[in-house]
Amino acid sequence: MADLDLALDLARVRAEFPALGSDFAFFDNAGGSQTLRGVADRVRDYLLTSNVQLGASYEVSRAAGARVAAAVAGAAAYVHAASPDEIVLGPSTTQLLANLALAMRTWLRPGDEVVVSRAEHEANAGPWCRLAAATGAVVRWWPLDPVTLRLEPHGLAPLLGPRTRLVAFTHASNLLGTIHDVAGLTALAHGAGARVVVDGVAYAPHRAIDVRAWDVDAYVFSAYKVYGPHLAVLYGKRDLLAPLPGINHDFIGRDQLAYKLQPGNLNFELAHGLGGVFAYVDDLGGPAAAFARIAAHEEALAAPLLAWLRDAPGVRVLGEATADRARRVPTISFTVAGRRPEDVVRVVDGHRVGIRHGDFYARRLVEDLGLADAGGVIRASMVHYNTHDEVARLIEALAAALR
Ligand SMILES: Cc1ncc(COP(=O)(O)O)c(C=O)c1O
Repeated sequence: MADLDLALDLARVRAEFPALGSDFAFFDNAGGSQTLRGVADRVRDYLLTSNVQLGASYEVSRAAGARVAAAVAGAAAYVHAASPDEIVLGPSTTQLLANLALAMRTWLRPGDEVVVSRAEHEANAGPWCRLAAATGAVVRWWPLDPVTLRLEPHGLAPLLGPRTRLVAFTHASNLLGTIHDVAGLTALAHGAGARVVVDGVAYAPHRAIDVRAWDVDAYVFSAYKVYGPHLAVLYGKRDLLAPLPGINHDFIGRDQLAYKLQPGNLNFELAHGLGGVFAYVDDLGGPAAAFARIAAHEEALAAPLLAWLRDAPGVRVLGEATADRARRVPTISFTVAGRRPEDVVRVVDGHRVGIRHGDFYARRLVEDLGLADAGGVIRASMVHYNTHDEVARLIEALAAALR
């Protein structure tokens, strides 16, 4: 009964994504999702009706400024931030985290410690390694549990100490799809007096975000993987951002929390476009209801693929082998004994089914798994607009590739 309440109107969903009109099956969604019509319409409308510089007193500039401000306010509401000035927009997650680390350059002292997980996309590892190298701080690597391939509290606890200033980890692995307990891990890090920076990129397309419930200090996601444009959103808790020097012009005050971290103009048209994502989620019932439906549908999509992979000879699913929506998002990586990932993917390409191979910039994880020389993994990543028919086509294509 419960799942009936969670039914997703797939015809209605797919009608919002013009790219789904062809017979191509998109299973590289963790690389980039398809874009909502409403997002594209808003980008076009911004460019054609309000493409002026912000901050002037004339009418069109005020209207453009109001559009961008609405996008920022929408993002704040979407992640449940306390205030819009805790929202920093930028071109990508990689850039936003690099900017944040740059702003934190006077924040660390020699001998301070930074904990970084081995599951990270490089976007949430490299900046902290460079920051540590520049300040004389020490990086402590947080390994995944060797059995569950999860970031667990028992892996983090021994790394925390009086010098730990920062803990950086991913909410969901972009390779394994495993969901980590952000609230629990954050509480553990806070108990040691450390700040927490979470990469939400692989999680955000699948679940609602609540930075206040989780109490994270910074959280970031990329809108182009959440049905939007090439733009990223960083939430920074006020008391983390307030004391930081900016990376913008020197005369931009420290009290201008977001502006000091946004050098140069924002991409205004994409910021306005982002509002189309929030409108879509609202149309599906608001974040809580929409993502409850999305999670149920995604679990139902992942189950047959995982079942098939579990039974396929020579196939090894990495990480969580069940479709349980509490434990994973439907980003599924696997290897095939004796086959290079690229060779398998090339066969699947011929079936008009888009999957992908490689390390997905989670290079340290792929090295730790001993798969770097073997060409990484094969990854099929689904989102809520995928259908059961498409999953069947993917399985057929994989079966052909493995024959
Ligand atoms: C988990 C994760 N973090 C960060 C990134 C980088 O995002 P961006 O392309 O916006 O820099 C990606 C991109 O694939 C990702 O999957």
